[in-house]
Formats: sequence, structure tokens, C-alpha cells
Amino acid sequence: MTKTDAFISIQNVSKFFGTFRAIDDISMDIGRGEFFSLLGPSGCGKTTLLRMLAGFESTTAGEIFIDNQPTSDVPPHHRPVNMVFQNYAIFPHLNVRDNITYGLRKQKLSRSKRYEMAEEMLEMIKLPDYGTRKATELSGGQRQRIALARALILRPKVLLLDEPLGALDKQLREQMQLELRALQRQIGITFVFVTHDQEEALTLSDRIAVMSGGKVLQVDTPTGLYETPKTSVVARFIGNMNFFDGTVRRNGAAAAAIETEGLGTIQVPVADLDKPDGAAVQVALRPEKIALSATRPDAAEHAVSARLDTSAYLGERSHFYVNLEGRDEPVAVSQPNTSRFNAANQAPSGTEVWLSWSSDAIVVLDPE
Ligand SMILES: Nc1ncnc2c1ncn2[C@@H]1O[C@H](COP(=O)(O)OP(=O)(O)OP(=O)(O)O)[C@@H](O)[C@H]1O
Ligand SMILES: [Mg+2]
Repeated sequence: MTKTDAFISIQNVSKFFGTFRAIDDISMDIGRGEFFSLLGPSGCGKTTLLRMLAGFESTTAGEIFIDNQPTSDVPPHHRPVNMVFQNYAIFPHLNVRDNITYGLRKQKLSRSKRYEMAEEMLEMIKLPDYGTRKATELSGGQRQRIALARALILRPKVLLLDEPLGALDKQLREQMQLELRALQRQIGITFVFVTHDQEEALTLSDRIAVMSGGKVLQVDTPTGLYETPKTSVVARFIGNMNFFDGTVRRNGAAAAAIETEGLGTIQVPVADLDKPDGAAVQVALRPEKIALSATRPDAAEHAVSARLDTSAYLGERSHFYVNLEGRDEPVAVSQPNTSRFNAANQAPSGTEVWLSWSSDAIVVLDPE
């Protein structure tokens, strides 16, 4: 057993269902009190990993430590964890209070103590006076909060949440996200949160593990993942990204440049480039980090001319696709509509425009 400072330490964990490898040698640590998310497409193994943390699923290889204790031989009800499921099964035949105190029934607590604890929970989830309400007389968001209270009343050290907001509409979902984050800060326990919604993961998490095909591709803070993805797969998965093939051109020790298809030659700080002369790379540039203008901007570090292809007006911002000389694939550009009359929104296809960006907008990655 390897001792670490982590609250949850996942060490070389794999899970096979028959010959199918659902989890492929995952190692990562989750800190005490952290809001940690598992993010990845359907079928990548998020629920499986969560179920292994809860003890509903055994590990085929490796070990999970919680609070420095190995968990292989610990049954679910003896683990300091509790799980909130995607389809928050609250009991329709019980009222709100009995739903919340359901998990306490095996503990020898007086009726008044249980009531008191339920009241405390109702206060916390901002539904005081709802104790005697029937479970069938609740909105989706209220039901979700009851499911949370039911898990939290058992005072777990870790709360596992499997897409708990998946069934809610966008507006309620965004409101619940804020509430969930505030609640987690308030009670200070560790949350492991599963979602396939990248915006939700970015909004809520201290750190995020991006998963694909049973593997963890990168564990990082939201800004770390978005601004400095380590691979093109992660860059593509979080937000939108333009990729340009490039070749490193070193110019002695002091300067380096990347020759690209489409963007011309980009000067890069040598300190940021750990690649040898002649190395093939991918230059990644987010759509919103490119500025669009009718003429060449004077002060721009980098600028190229392009032709407008298509555009889409999305209210708060507009998306443009532009064509560059020497490149088949159009480049995506996203611009906030800070003024009501954004000239580019009216410009016809084929109009000449200028793209500009600063050096720190560029991420240099290995080719796929
Ligand atoms: N009991 C099982 N027996 C066989 N295969 C399983 C079992 N449970 C999960 N799998 C497979 O393991 C893979 C991972 O499943 P998992 O439920 O962990 O995915 P997920 O990331 O939670 O996906 P979703 O976002 O759709 O919920 C899938 O290919 C799934 O079919
Ligand atoms: Mg799942």
C-alpha cells in the first residue's frame, strides 16, 4: 500500500466485464474537500468508476484507498461514501421528511432526533416547511434537492453524484449548479461528480478528469484543461479548437518559430517550446481567441488575411467560418456581439477580413 496525502487514491485500477476492459489502468488522487468531476463521452467508464468508489462494483486490478485505507474488502455500507443516482429514486409513497430520513432507519435514533436532523437538512437545501409535503407534489429540481438531502443526512465523507442534474431543463440545471457548488463549499465534504456536459464540469469543479475509452487523458483545473490542453483529443473535447499543421524552425538558442499551413510563420518564445528543429507539431487556436477585422490591425502580433465563408448569429455572439490561402478546412472564429451593429454579421460571403491573435493564444501540441 502506498500512503499519500490524497483523500481518495485510485492506484492502477482496471475493470473488466468478461473480456471487455471498461476501466483501463487508471491512477489519480482526489483531495479532501475537493469538487472533482469525471467528464467524458457516453460509455467511457464514468459510472463504472463511481460504482467502484462506492463498492457496488469490484476492481479487477489495482486498489482504491479512501482516507488511506484500502477498500477492496470493504462493503458499500461500511465505506464513508454515499451516492446520488442519475434518476434520483425518491419514494413516491413517503413524504419529504420520511424520504430524507430513510437511511437513518437502521440507526437507533429517537423520532424527535430524526425530525430535528430532517429539519436541518430542509433548511440547508432551502426547502423549509416541506417536511410533510408528498413526494409526488414536487418539481424536478425540488426532488433533486430531496435526493441530495437524503444522501447528506448520513454525513458521508465523500458524496458520489452520477449526473445528478441530467434530467433537469437548462435553466433549472444552471440554478442547481450554483446551489450544489455553494452547498459543497458550506459542508466541505469531497464531491466526485459525473457529467458528460463540459460546461457543467468547468463551472463546478476544482479539478476535472477527462476520460475516454476507460482511460484518464488529463486531470487538471478547469482553466488548465481549457487553456493548456496536453493533447489534441482533450483540446477537441473541451470547447472548440482550430488545428493547424506546423513545423518547428529553431533559430539558435534565442528564437524559434513554427511554420504553419494557413497562419504563416509564428514566432514563439523558446521557453514554451520543448521540441527540436524540424519537429512536426499541431498549432491549436480557440475560435474566440481570434479577432476579426475589416482591415489589418496595426498593433497585432500576428495577422493574416482571409475570406469570409459562412456566419451564424447566436445573439450574444456570432460564429464565422473563414477561408485561408493554402488551407482547405475553414477556420472557426467566435466574436462577442458587444455592439448591436457588428459589421461582420452583415458582410457577404467572400468579403476580405483579417484574423489576428496574440502569441499566448497559441497552444503547441504533438500531431495526432
Ligand atoms: N455490468 C456490465 N456488464 C458489461 N458491460 C458493462 C457493464 N456495465 C458497464 N458496461 C460497459 O462498460 C462501459 C462503460 O460503462 P459506464 O456505464 O461506466 O459508462 P458511462 O461513462 O457512465 O456512460 P454514460 O455517460 O452513458 O452514463 C460501457 O461500454 C458499458 O457498456
Ligand atoms: Mg453513466
